[in-house]
Amino acid sequence: MSEATEVERLTEADAAAELARLAAEIARHDRAYHEQDAPLVSDAEYDALRRRNAAIEARFPHLVRPDSPSARVGAAPAGGFAKVRHRVPMLSLDNAFAADDFAEFCARARRFLGLAVGTRLRFVAEPKIDGLSISLTYEDGRFVRGATRGDGSEGEDVTANLRTMDKVPQKLRGKSPKRVEIRGEVFMTKADFLAFNEAQAAAGQRIYANPRNFAAGSLRQLDPAITAQRKLGLFAYGMGESSEPVADTHWAYLARLRKWGFDVNPLSRRLAGEADADAFQQEIGLARGTLAYDIDGVVYKIDDLGLQRRLGFVGRAPRWAIAWKFPAEQATTVLADIGIQVGRTGALTPVAQLEPVNVGGVLVTRATLHNEDEIARKDVRVGDTVVLQRAGDVIPQILEVVPERRPKGAEPYVFPDRCPVCGSLAVRPPGEAVRRCTGGLACPAQAVERLVHFVSRAAFDIEGLGEKTIRAFHEDGLVGTPADIFRLADREAEIAAREGWGETSAANLVRAIAARRRIGLARFIYALGIRRIGESNARLLARHYGGFAPWRARMTAAVEADGEARHELDSILGIGPAIAEELAEFFAEPRNVAVLDELAALLTIEDAEPAEGGALAGKSIVFTGSLETMTRPEAKARAESLGAKVTDSVSRRTDLVVVGADAGSKAKRATELGVRTLTEDEWRELAGFG
Ligand code: IVH
Repeated sequence: MSEATEVERLTEADAAAELARLAAEIARHDRAYHEQDAPLVSDAEYDALRRRNAAIEARFPHLVRPDSPSARVGAAPAGGFAKVRHRVPMLSLDNAFAADDFAEFCARARRFLGLAVGTRLRFVAEPKIDGLSISLTYEDGRFVRGATRGDGSEGEDVTANLRTMDKVPQKLRGKSPKRVEIRGEVFMTKADFLAFNEAQAAAGQRIYANPRNFAAGSLRQLDPAITAQRKLGLFAYGMGESSEPVADTHWAYLARLRKWGFDVNPLSRRLAGEADADAFQQEIGLARGTLAYDIDGVVYKIDDLGLQRRLGFVGRAPRWAIAWKFPAEQATTVLADIGIQVGRTGALTPVAQLEPVNVGGVLVTRATLHNEDEIARKDVRVGDTVVLQRAGDVIPQILEVVPERRPKGAEPYVFPDRCPVCGSLAVRPPGEAVRRCTGGLACPAQAVERLVHFVSRAAFDIEGLGEKTIRAFHEDGLVGTPADIFRLADREAEIAAREGWGETSAANLVRAIAARRRIGLARFIYALGIRRIGESNARLLARHYGGFAPWRARMTAAVEADGEARHELDSILGIGPAIAEELAEFFAEPRNVAVLDELAALLTIEDAEPAEGGALAGKSIVFTGSLETMTRPEAKARAESLGAKVTDSVSRRTDLVVVGADAGSKAKRATELGVRTLTEDEWRELAGFG
């Protein structure tokens, strides 16, 4: 039964009682979230409560309560922390779940480096601590700044809180580089966590869901005195920027960290080859339960820092490290209902609402059901007992139904063919798995999800305008389209008058919005929320086209399927025809272009910055023939890290063609067009290979 049909069945008395219950419950969550930094439910659950409240109010407008949550925005976010840009991004790790995945990771690294199949790779293995990663900067050996990871590019300055931690050396022992940044994981022991929660419960105070949330909440306290009372541990394991090299191997680097005065996880071990990983994984898996802190796997890092540098990164993860996770944890519970969420691109996603159950230390109340075929394939019915699985950070999944426990009369689930939010037809194109609402911009769910995406962290990231606020502003008609956000300055008084706001917070918001009128092209493209254009594709596009005007011009031209602009788009490495098609569809819709232009008129969109060094900034480069001293992926990755865009075909727009052995038509075409060609040696020189 979907949320919408349920609301339709409510009697007036039921509705009044439920609105009272929702008002109290939402207020309780607001307090937990804003005042105690300890959310009791996931954002999705919270949003579902607010949506339900709004749906009931829409049906029974005369029952809207004076203390209705829809009249109230959540209090201003914790705020108060300055932003810190990470000069070397803080990345995440790809996961392995089995020996095969690990073997494949090793094979990939070898292929990238052009090493023979049997070549041994030496690793350092470290337990993967389930905590919060932080960056600590030291200048002349003194601790000067500490920051959270944030979105990887920008975190929060929590120096004052970190100074209260015994485990953060204020001064490095012995010699150290002029400037060095150390990374590690802040965590809390299981015992301290349980003791804290017990004391909180006894005092009728909020409890935290798991040690990781607790560690995070403790570091993000506005009052360092509170952080000081919490017993936080720290294991150092990584390197950020450094004014001079510190070591040749990761193992030697860990030794250096210990000398400087950091705790390095004592279970860390150097492995002579990948064959030892299996045994180490088993050993740590067995020790896991006896450890004082939570771990969720083992991180394997290639020991040689020279190889690490050559391997570099792909997307948000290094090619030189992998997190091999422990097997997923399972539990059974009852499926109470199936709800339908409508996403930014209109996709209808079924979500299982579960009787709360503890899976590996985390309370789970929802699980994704993916799509209608998945529900049919598993024959999941409301009322069924289901087996749930949670692996690492992955959203919980329903593995299967326990058939013996199916209640009598449980009916197969019928997937709705209308959007539960706007009522438009929801259609599923042949060959696709997803059913989509056809309401487009007219569907409030799509409009609001687009706004939520627009202000999200990797997009406009406006301080004080988080998901909850933007939803409330949308609900109350303050913002309909992204451009409206930049007109909120005209409505400052109205915002100030809202409950939970006031003149200062309204003025702060207006200021924060003004500060974001200047934005980089990649973020801007990402913020538009075009299907399949995530952060990394947005970066590729920004780097390729350089500026907003050329991008817009080439995209409108690329609407034509066989034209030159579409061909150019197709051939950007990493884009390809499916993504090009998606962009063309977006630009073929005049309403989208109107929204885009309206926004562009209100903003200063900065040209894309070339990556690190930028020796090849903005250059378009083609590799052809076989290279002898490096693999093609390594060559491409290096070119991209120097700011070049790598394409497959040679045209007048190509700046450089690197010609390897046995090159064919592309080298010929380069000569015909008068494009500069380089030999492999010249390329090595240009790209700074030793
Ligand atoms: S290395 C570029 N080592 O896991 C490499 N990470 O899933 C970045 N983590 O954000 C991380 N223990 O918060 C590394 N021994 C360890 C770790 C570790 C825990 C966390 C860290 C990172 C996340 C990635």
